Amino acid sequence: MKAAFIEKFGGPEVLQYGDLPDPVAAPGEVVVDVVAASVNGADWKVRAGQYKQTTFPLGLGRDFSGVVAAGGDGVADFKPGDAAFGVLEPGQEGANAEKVAVKAAIVAKKPDGLSHVDAAALALTGLTAMSAIEDTLKLRPGEAILIQGGAGGVASFAIQLAKHIGARVITTASAANHDYVRSLGADEIIDYNAKDFTKVVSGCDAVFDTVGGEVAQRSFAVLKPGGRAAFIASGPQAPKPDRSDVTSLRPAVGRTRRHMERIAHLYQAGAIRPPEIKLYRLSEVADAHRLSESRHFRGKLVFRVR
Ligand SMILES: NC(=O)c1ccc[n+]([C@@H]2O[C@H](COP(=O)([O-])OP(=O)(O)OC[C@H]3O[C@@H](n4cnc5c(N)ncnc54)[C@H](OP(=O)(O)O)[C@@H]3O)[C@@H](O)[C@H]2O)c1
Repeated sequence: MKAAFIEKFGGPEVLQYGDLPDPVAAPGEVVVDVVAASVNGADWKVRAGQYKQTTFPLGLGRDFSGVVAAGGDGVADFKPGDAAFGVLEPGQEGANAEKVAVKAAIVAKKPDGLSHVDAAALALTGLTAMSAIEDTLKLRPGEAILIQGGAGGVASFAIQLAKHIGARVITTASAANHDYVRSLGADEIIDYNAKDFTKVVSGCDAVFDTVGGEVAQRSFAVLKPGGRAAFIASGPQAPKPDRSDVTSLRPAVGRTRRHMERIAHLYQAGAIRPPEIKLYRLSEVADAHRLSESRHFRGKLVFRVR
């Protein structure tokens, strides 16, 4: 099969597009013929060696949508031909390929009305946003939340989910992305290049940070006493707050079929629409990584694999 992979860590120049062996379904797994797969922020970090995998060649990519080609022993809930989408288990990479083997229990059937491209765009972003907003922050109707990095893939989902819950959403984005985040439902938008968000936002019940670094650390300032903040771009641990009256949380982002089914449900209910998508061929993986690593684009980068 054709796949995007690396044989050593490094910049985008180490990315290869070429042949890897077809995967085989182990017991409990399905092999999926991938139709679309997305680029996530983790992919360039994996490529650069931040996750310290040791096996090469190392396929890249964490989420996919496609058609089940085969099932291993014990797989009763999928048959060849079923459209399915999902996120690989933590530690497993390789969805940016023509085929992927994945544990059936964490994959969901793709609804007919959701395209493969949109399903791939929503899989890990949706899972992450739901883990943060619903499972970790437990956001409630009427609460105010600051979502940092509103134009990114995870935040595109998070803004819509927070609005669906009934919260008031404040978000940060560069000026070129204000119409976009407004169209997702953001109530208040801060141009972070023109204004210091800590000077113009206060009294929030919750923060969801998708930016990391100094932005993450400074986000505690906008919380009201008792507020809570969730961080997904600060590594495996939540940053330590510089005040004692708030809670700092790191969503677990576990893989479950239930979460994939909830993405499908929210989409079908009209609560969530896919992010803006830029399409690539798998052979263009280096270009996709360059843009992803720049961290200044809108929505999601998706490979149309077949
Ligand atoms: N399981 C997990 O824990 C998990 C899962 C998924 C993602 N992540 C992490 O979450 C982060 C977000 O991922 P993503 O794919 O949604 O987006 P991303 O590709 O990392 O971020 C892109 C967006 O960030 C915005 N941005 C950059 N700097 C900003 C700043 N200082 N203030 C506000 N916005 C800023 C950009 O908008 P502008 O052009 O407007 O600046 C752009 O739209 C990544 O670090 C990723 O690795 C973690």
